[in-house]
Amino acid sequence: MTQNTIQSLLSQYPTPFYTFDVTELRRRVAFLKDHLPSSVHLCYAVKANTFISPYVADLIERYEVCSPGELAICTEQKIAPEKLVISGVYKTPELIEGHILSDNCAGHYTAESLEQFALLKHAAQTSGKKINILLRLTSGNQFGMNEEDIKQIITAEKDNADFNICGIQFFSGTQKTSMKKYKREIDHLNEFLREIETECSFHCDELEYGTGFPVYYFEDSKAFDEAAFLAEFTDILNTLDFDCLITLELGRSIAASCGSYFTKAVDMKTNHAQNYAIMDGGIHHISYFGQFMAMKHPYHEVYPPRQGDTQEWNLCGSLCTVNDLLVKGLPIADFKIGDTIIFKNAGAYCVTEGISLFLSRALPSVIMLEENGDTTRLRGAAETYKLNY
Ligand SMILES: Cc1ncc(COP(=O)(O)O)c(C=O)c1O
Repeated sequence: MTQNTIQSLLSQYPTPFYTFDVTELRRRVAFLKDHLPSSVHLCYAVKANTFISPYVADLIERYEVCSPGELAICTEQKIAPEKLVISGVYKTPELIEGHILSDNCAGHYTAESLEQFALLKHAAQTSGKKINILLRLTSGNQFGMNEEDIKQIITAEKDNADFNICGIQFFSGTQKTSMKKYKREIDHLNEFLREIETECSFHCDELEYGTGFPVYYFEDSKAFDEAAFLAEFTDILNTLDFDCLITLELGRSIAASCGSYFTKAVDMKTNHAQNYAIMDGGIHHISYFGQFMAMKHPYHEVYPPRQGDTQEWNLCGSLCTVNDLLVKGLPIADFKIGDTIIFKNAGAYCVTEGISLFLSRALPSVIMLEENGDTTRLRGAAETYKLNY
C-alpha cells in the first residue's frame, strides 16, 4: 500500500477500520491456482472473511458456508447457488428443508452424521429435489463421521435416486506445515476412496479436502518459500491416484494477505517503566493465529513513518481487560498520539472471529480497495451504536 493510499484512507475514514485489497486478493487466488495442479478446484471457506467472497467469484469454483448467516450473506452477494457447499456441524431442519425447497437449492450439502444425513435424505425425498451430498469424514473430533458410518450410508443409499452421493469431504485443521502430515492424510484418503469402491461397489466422484495451508503473521517467522511448499504439496497430491475431482477448501491462505487493520494511538503513558499506547481498536478486531500473550510482533507499518531511535511500546486496545494487549514491546521510533499502526495479513478471521461486541464498541468500518484505486465502504462504524451528541 503506498503512502498516498494510506494518507487518503486516513483522511476519509475514522479508525479503526479494515481494508481488503481486491488486487491482492485476486493475485493471491491466481498464485494458488498457478502453483496447484490445473485439475484442482478451489473452494473458499467464507468463514475466513465474508466480505470478500464476491470479488473472486470468477476465480473460485465453490464456496463453503457453515451457518444460516453465511448462507444469507452469500445469497445477498449473489454467489451462484450451484457453487455453494452447505456445510457445518449442525444444519437445522429449518435450514435444510427451507434451502432445499428454495430455488437456490443447487450446490452441495455435507452430511456430518447419520442423523444429519437422515435430515438431508428426508428433505430430498419430500421436496423431490435431487440434491448433491458429500459425506464428511472425521479427522478424530466432533466433525464428520467414522469410516464405518460412511460405508454404511453408501451401502444402504448408493442406489437411492432421490439424491446424489458425490463423495467425501475432509478437513483436518489449519496452519499445517508438515509434509509428512499431508502425505499421511492423502494416503489415508486415497486408501479410503478405494475401500469404498471395493467394499461398497461405489465410485466417489469427488473429494473435497480442507488442507489448512499455512500463513505466516509474525516478523520473526522463518522465510517461507510458498512456491516450494506448494510444489511439494502438489507432488504429494499427485500420489492420490483415485480418479475423482479434487476440490481444496481454503480460508486463510486465500484471505489473509489482502487485509490490513488500521488503528490509531489515542493515549500514551509510562507506568512502572513500561510505555503504553492506548489504541482506538483492540483484540476484539484483530487476532492472529499463533499470537501468544501479545509476545509476537505481527507484520505492521507505522504511519506516518518516523526516523530515529526506537523505544519499546506496549500497544493496548480500548477494552476493559488487561488482556487487550495487541503487541508487547514493539520498537517504534518517535511514536506519537495520532500515529496509526497498520497491521498486515489481517484478511482472514479477524473480521469474523473477533469478539467485536465486547464493551459495545463500534464495529470497525470495512473498506474495499478496488482494482481501479477507488474505495468502497462495505460497512460503516456509524451503523452500530451511536450517541447522539
Ligand atoms: C471445514 C473447513 N474447511 C476449510 C476451512 C479453512 O481452513 P483454513 O482457513 O485454515 O484454510 C475450515 C476452517 O476452519 C473448515 O472448518
